[in-house]
Amino acid sequence: MTETLDIKVTKAEQTRLTVTDFSELPFGKVFTDHMFLCDYEDGVWKNPRVVPYGPIPMSPAISALHYGQAIFEGIKAYRLPDGKISIFRADKNFLRFNKSARRMAMAEVPEEIFMQGMAALINVDEKWVPNQEDYALYIRPVMYATDPYLGVRPSDSYTFAVLTTPTGKYYNKALRVKVETEFTRADDGGVGYAKTAGNYARSLYPFEVARKEGFDQLIWTDAQTHEFIEEAGTANLMFVIDGKLVTPAIRTTVLDGVTRDTIIQLAKAAGVEVEERRLSVKEIIEGIENGKLTEAFAAGTAATVTHIGEIGYEGKTYTLTDVSTRTVSNGIAKKLNDIKYGLAPDTFGWNW
Ligand code: COI
Repeated sequence: MTETLDIKVTKAEQTRLTVTDFSELPFGKVFTDHMFLCDYEDGVWKNPRVVPYGPIPMSPAISALHYGQAIFEGIKAYRLPDGKISIFRADKNFLRFNKSARRMAMAEVPEEIFMQGMAALINVDEKWVPNQEDYALYIRPVMYATDPYLGVRPSDSYTFAVLTTPTGKYYNKALRVKVETEFTRADDGGVGYAKTAGNYARSLYPFEVARKEGFDQLIWTDAQTHEFIEEAGTANLMFVIDGKLVTPAIRTTVLDGVTRDTIIQLAKAAGVEVEERRLSVKEIIEGIENGKLTEAFAAGTAATVTHIGEIGYEGKTYTLTDVSTRTVSNGIAKKLNDIKYGLAPDTFGWNW
């Protein structure tokens, strides 16, 4: 039995709900009235609390700022038809959070702090969970090192915070993606599988280059040869080749996506054969050219299932099938949405 925490709640004097336009919710810009905080000091977690959302005072010397000891997660809460709220597969995100913490030499967050902190925050801000198709409350647990010390060593103190933001889709159209063959997101033995700030920081310049070339996202390839597909940085990548769902196998350079795992389970349950393996750029390009590759999409909590419309590789653009013809990914996306929004039975036990 996990312990029930005594979480102190300090309410905001005014809600911002009344001045928030729920028909205009860009990803990650509008935050709810409160946030959850908990501190780690002297080897113990202390002071779990829900407080008004706002700036957090910190020393400019904290090691998160200088050496990037910072990790995060992405989870979504959905409004069900009976008005209740369900958080999707947060237990998986909790495990991954601490996997990231171990790799970054950070303190691990106890399960009750992660789960009860998130739940307490959503209870206070429950009116912020959208009630519109394709919308959800995006939950962002984050932990950062707070030692005000410039020596390079793991911090002794941390803050664990949970922020929540009502949001629609991260991407609003089929993506034009570029196969990245110059820059690298992650290397063997590195931190690619950890959801840590630096992985995202290092992707920004290559992404800016691609954006100026008219692309919406990158397909990262392996550091040694740039011949094998890894992931998209904001999401995992999935393809339908010869009717099978094919996705790069999880390696130390690829984030073990919760949506990726969910889609694999749904595909198998629907009788679709799934292959998790090395997947070369050559196979993708040839598959588009000979018609064997019929679907491609990004899969992530923020991205949900986002179709890929075009792939750019070595200066050429390859156009994929019309998204309305994509029966496998459209079928799985619908099934996934129906479970998340409580419109289909949750036979996998994913909704909390
Ligand atoms: C998520 O899907 O939750 C992510 O963390 C991706 C994010 C960086 C947009």
